[in-house]
Amino acid sequence: MADQPLLAADDVHLSFGETRALQGASLQVYAGEIVALMGPSGSGKSSLLHCLAGILAPDAGSVRYGDRDLAQMTDSCRSALRRGEFGFVFQFGQLVPELTCAENVALPLRLAGTRRREAHRKAAVWLERLEVADVAGKRPGQVSGGQGQRVAVARALVTRPKVIFADEPTGALDSLNGELVLKLLVSAVRETGAAVVLVTHEVRVAAYGDREVVVRDGRIRERELAR
Ligand SMILES: Nc1ncnc2c1ncn2[C@@H]1O[C@H](COP(=O)(O)OP(=O)(O)O)[C@@H](O)[C@H]1O
Ligand SMILES: [Mg+2]
Repeated sequence: MADQPLLAADDVHLSFGETRALQGASLQVYAGEIVALMGPSGSGKSSLLHCLAGILAPDAGSVRYGDRDLAQMTDSCRSALRRGEFGFVFQFGQLVPELTCAENVALPLRLAGTRRREAHRKAAVWLERLEVADVAGKRPGQVSGGQGQRVAVARALVTRPKVIFADEPTGALDSLNGELVLKLLVSAVRETGAAVVLVTHEVRVAAYGDREVVVRDGRIRERELAR
């Protein structure tokens, strides 16, 4: 494990009106590790994920990606960082309903300027890895929840991001399908070397992490898990 974290939140505070979502949260994420962010509903997990990913700006404290302080970057630099270095998986796949599954996976590459043929070739590889090659030509509305989430994972990984942010990625699935999605996600990131910030409130899901971090009242309570 590298000495310097890839991503680091330091004493982050964030409020929504009167609600103090984060109250001095600090977290380091190292290259290639899977960090499970646990904690009850409303404890601040998603808020922390959004701050780490540069989607929300903290009221106080800092978030650094490598040497860069996200707050010091321009909006367009932060967007470029999110597109180029980060991948996202949410509870409900958030696939574009009008596009086929293959087109959804190819989309981040197309937006980054990759030619259509090459983008689709890579998309096919990732659909294969996530064991959903058979739904390539279907639209998200025509596939199961588990298949849709595997397509969403393929889309998050196709650009080979350095960090994957997964917010309750199995929250809408039954345990069997949830387990399959996690297993495929973990083996895929082991291959690409991406770090994962995995938000969940399920102990079973957190067990897929290398390290478990508990969020409570907008702060971190950390405990190491044996590998
Ligand atoms: N956009 C928002 N507007 C108002 N309150 C919010 C917003 N997002 C989160 N909150 C509040 O902040 C607190 C932390 O929320 P969140 O980070 O979503 O927790 P978790 O993901 O652990 O369930 C909760 O009290 C929640 O209601
Ligand atoms: Mg949440």
